[in-house]
Amino acid sequence: MMSVSTTTPHLLSSLSSPLTQSPPLLPPRVPPNFPYKVRRILVHSTARAVSGRPASLRVSASSQAMAAEATGVSSIPADMKAWVYGEYGRVDVLKLDPKVPVPELKEDQVLIRVVAAALNPVDAKRRQGKFKATDSPLPTIPGYDVAGIVVKLGGQVKVLKVGDEVYGNINEKPLDGPKQFGSFAEYTAVEEKLLDLKPKNLDFVQAAGLPLAIETAYEGLEKAGFSAGKSVLVLNGSGGVGSLVIQLAKHVFGASRVVATSGPRNLELLKSLGANSAIDYTKENFEDLPEKYDVVYDAIGQCDRAVKVVKEGGSVVVLTGAVVAPGFRFVVTSNGEVLKKLNPYLESGQVKPLVDPQGPFPFAQVSDAFAYIETNRAVGKVVIHPIP
Ligand SMILES: NC(=O)c1ccc[n+]([C@@H]2O[C@H](COP(=O)([O-])OP(=O)(O)OC[C@H]3O[C@@H](n4cnc5c(N)ncnc54)[C@H](OP(=O)(O)O)[C@@H]3O)[C@@H](O)[C@H]2O)c1
Repeated sequence: MMSVSTTTPHLLSSLSSPLTQSPPLLPPRVPPNFPYKVRRILVHSTARAVSGRPASLRVSASSQAMAAEATGVSSIPADMKAWVYGEYGRVDVLKLDPKVPVPELKEDQVLIRVVAAALNPVDAKRRQGKFKATDSPLPTIPGYDVAGIVVKLGGQVKVLKVGDEVYGNINEKPLDGPKQFGSFAEYTAVEEKLLDLKPKNLDFVQAAGLPLAIETAYEGLEKAGFSAGKSVLVLNGSGGVGSLVIQLAKHVFGASRVVATSGPRNLELLKSLGANSAIDYTKENFEDLPEKYDVVYDAIGQCDRAVKVVKEGGSVVVLTGAVVAPGFRFVVTSNGEVLKKLNPYLESGQVKPLVDPQGPFPFAQVSDAFAYIETNRAVGKVVIHPIP
């Protein structure tokens, strides 16, 4: 069983001799013909073609090779490359450590060879120390979302097998003792119940961007009592969560009407995801418009305004910021069952992952990916690939 006392010194010792990193470098902005590019992202399995990098990820070939390799425990090294921080702070606390012990497994966990991982705003907030009261001890390997290949099984693992291609959010409770060994590493250990098999039509890059965001989108709609025939306003429809709230509301829950807010460059994107109408937040205040909604899904922190446009008896789901009645806030619970439930919608293409066209960021550029998500301008998910 992994113990903090045995692993911490290794992490700390390597932190004392940080590798030289290139300074955070923001990728260029999305070009003006964005809606077309967004359509390509939705259709293509790789955002690399959009960003001008090589179009083929060759994920299936490499995953087969890795699965073949994975048949023997002996192929798992003792150490791995991982991104680590030993103190809370800005992006520059992140260091690429070439020699971190591969995490040991608990009985109910599998060891995953990470093929792709994704960032969420919680990774940045956690690194900044906003949740330090309930965080696991430093040093930390960040990362919640993972897609990869099972290479080893704990003794109590029931269904998954070595070689399975899986994805999931590795922390059941994101703020309450999240794992010290996250997904921005070559290997990560995860409870079987938090994972599902990767949808067959998605590559690892697409799958990595889904778990935390789609679980949040689904749980929020469910907690709001959303159902067929109801209307919803999504605040921040272009972000990782909002882009999935639009799609789930429309294609899974059967919404009668979906409206979403975004800046001007993403209005067409919202419609392509299933929104009936898109509000440009730089031009109009949604609360000044006459329309009222059964549910408002606030993924930006505007609850005080959101409560003005909800119908009598309706619900306001709040992900961040101050809460005003009747709004309610919740924190997502990672749950492989939600991924299983949504699998048919993903495999049929009714619900599509949205990968930010600035990425995927290669493993060496994890700190750049952090700097990018912290601009609050990401469109869909910021993904890390290849690893390493
Ligand atoms: N409670 C939970 O369990 C939970 C779970 C997941 C996420 N969260 C929180 O929910 C929030 C959203 O997460 P996320 O991953 O979806 O974020 P995200 O992907 O980083 O959101 C970025 C998007 O926000 C848009 N945006 C910025 N200002 C806006 C405004 N005033 N109105 C509308 N859109 C705006 C940007 O579009 P433009 O560039 O066009 O402005 C950009 O596309 C974060 O604070 C996150 O920490 C909470």
